[in-house]
Amino acid sequence: MRQPLIMGNWKMNTSREEGVQLAKALAEGLGSVAQEVAVCVPFVYLSDVKNALAGSPIAVGAQNVADQASGAYTGEVSATMLADCGIKYALVGHSERRSYYGDTNQSVANRFCQALKQNVIPVLCVGETLDEREQNRTFQVVDEQLDAVIDAAGIEAFGKAVIAYEPVWAIGTGKTATDEQAQEVHQYIRQRIAERSAAVAEKVQILYGGSVKPDNAKGLFAMPDIDGGLVGGASLDAKGFLQICHSV
Ligand code: G3P
Repeated sequence: MRQPLIMGNWKMNTSREEGVQLAKALAEGLGSVAQEVAVCVPFVYLSDVKNALAGSPIAVGAQNVADQASGAYTGEVSATMLADCGIKYALVGHSERRSYYGDTNQSVANRFCQALKQNVIPVLCVGETLDEREQNRTFQVVDEQLDAVIDAAGIEAFGKAVIAYEPVWAIGTGKTATDEQAQEVHQYIRQRIAERSAAVAEKVQILYGGSVKPDNAKGLFAMPDIDGGLVGGASLDAKGFLQICHSV
């Protein structure tokens, strides 16, 4: 049985002090939950948040990771640096990295591999735009995003990773995918992986992201192939995020 995972993605939000206070509120308010909880926070104060979460089961993740091991890549943060800070997860291929900063399926696959090499769990973000959905290309887009990683890392790699399905048209828009729409794509992703490895397909956690809120989390997380959520805006409010964490 897959363990549910609720992950907050703070994006480029909160000051250092706000981030530390949010982390403390989450640590104090989480209580006992069966699933894992993690927060992906800005690099600049990963360590501050990790210290604020000390003693709580909440893990810390990064929102990106370099596609190279080290070298003259100004502004990048390597998987080694994340591992040195005790960071557990790294988002790779978030749609905002793909659309604003030119991340390609190949560079995302490279980031995925760099994280794995340093035992930082990659969270591979996949999903289609509204145009691609309206052109009935959702499965084709997701296939291309998955295949780039499978070609680079092999299917077994997904046994040491997490996948997040985030329909781009639902991110930050308030237009959440219906439970059925999300389940359909999650089931498709798991089935594509099962074609190569039934064991990996059964094991890999597939999170849904895209306007997850306290009032829609329960229905989404009840779907058989949805193993939790990758939460953006709602993760910046301790009370709301904790409600989502208790919706599993
Ligand atoms: O990575 C999660 C994020 O993209 C979803 O954002 O604000 O729609 O929950 P939001």
